Amino acid sequence: MTSEILREARRYEEVAEQYIQNTDRPGFHLSTRAGWMNDPNGFSYYQGQYHLFYQYYPYAVKWGPMHWGHAVSDDLLHWTYLPAALAPDTLPDRDGCFSGSAVELPDGRQLLIYTGVVEVGRGMGELESVRQNQCIAIGDGLNYEKYAGNPVIDSDTAPEGCSKEDFRDPKIWKEADGTYRCIASIRPADGSGMILLYSSPDGIHWKFESILAENKNRFGKMWECPDFFELDGKYVLLTSPQNMLPEGFEYHNGNGTLCLIGDFDKETKQFHDEFDQAVDYGIDFYAPQTLLAPDGRRIMIGWMQNWDTLAMIRNKARWFGQMTIPREISIRNNRLYQWPIRELDKLRRNRVEYRDVDLDGELRLDGIRGRQIDMTVTIRPAEGEKIYEKFALWFGENEIYHTSLSFHPSDSIMKIDRKFSGSRRAVIHQRRSKVSHQNGKLTMRIILDRFSAEIFVNNGEQVITATIYTDQEADGIKFIADGKLVLDVEKYELG
Ligand code: FRU
Repeated sequence: MTSEILREARRYEEVAEQYIQNTDRPGFHLSTRAGWMNDPNGFSYYQGQYHLFYQYYPYAVKWGPMHWGHAVSDDLLHWTYLPAALAPDTLPDRDGCFSGSAVELPDGRQLLIYTGVVEVGRGMGELESVRQNQCIAIGDGLNYEKYAGNPVIDSDTAPEGCSKEDFRDPKIWKEADGTYRCIASIRPADGSGMILLYSSPDGIHWKFESILAENKNRFGKMWECPDFFELDGKYVLLTSPQNMLPEGFEYHNGNGTLCLIGDFDKETKQFHDEFDQAVDYGIDFYAPQTLLAPDGRRIMIGWMQNWDTLAMIRNKARWFGQMTIPREISIRNNRLYQWPIRELDKLRRNRVEYRDVDLDGELRLDGIRGRQIDMTVTIRPAEGEKIYEKFALWFGENEIYHTSLSFHPSDSIMKIDRKFSGSRRAVIHQRRSKVSHQNGKLTMRIILDRFSAEIFVNNGEQVITATIYTDQEADGIKFIADGKLVLDVEKYELG
């Protein structure tokens, strides 16, 4: 039975979306149907289509009692909205349906597992305290029935000293023997992060198995939105820590996304990390989730936003929140590599190519402009010259605005800077990271959609993601060098 709360959300979103022009949304990144979007949820392939749900508050462009929005796609780039899937409408989730995931059951139905939030004592004049437990809903890809026995994983099952308030973001998967596993984040006694592993024969009855991984205050505090999978012979734990301290050029302050690469001990059911790295070196990336596509690709999608820079909301927009481009991920040399899904190649039009262009000072190239493009730029020092001091690429550019991507070979620092992108807020506008290069030679694949830039450096060894809300008329691209270098540029329009 669809509740009145869900019916209302479904009615509202149908009307609200009509006030948003398609040209006022990203072209091939999923944005919220109406109101507000945060984390990707239930990213799955079900009955011949990709499904993506998301943290959703349809009624305002700000976070509110969480619903699940829903969209489907054949190619992960063109999305069709479906009616909101979940609303906070039962006792165990009455204050929010937080993040979670999806799996197909043997009978062909789809199971959603999510965090039910209850604010105890709310409205009764008592001190508020929050309870977070894991709940399920089962459905047909359109309508989902909440399980009467919710919650199915209670925080009482967690080890001694763990929080009842911060226990969330279940990620479910099916094992080869048909049983299910699920991980969820919890805040242990040391105040940092911990990932718990559960098992179930049917997706409904769950048993605590082990502490899969512990933060021990190494990377930020509470770990949110975990994902765990085997990839290229290693095990990978993705999680998004809150309240991080910066570390060199690897981790930035605040909320970030961490990739731990290591091994899984099948006896103790514990993950042992050997390598750590940031997942994204830009400004806007959080809470990613992955799926295993029917063709074996592990595909990751993230919320293209950062909790600390929400104040940069575009004026007058009736939507807030978009997802990143889905990215094929792999492990090479104990590092996470990311690459835009190959389906994007089908959207490429009007190729413009330049080879061996000398750059010394400023340069514009005919046909190289646009705000929905796929552009690969390779730079190398000019032969017989001393290595250049600095390279910069300005995009989303006109007399007033630009966003800059710059690189100094002497210290290997790449910087994204959107200070001049039109933002009128004093939030973080730039981020620097160390990138690898061979004597000043490196490659950048730049994907621009109307309100974002994603830069894949060195075949996906690093990615730099940032939202930009610059007026669409600012579509210029300018190359700048301090010193002499040589460029190759290949550009396609997308859409
Ligand atoms: C991460 C997060 C999750 C939570 C959701 C609530 O961005 O804080 O941990 O489930 O957002 O909307």
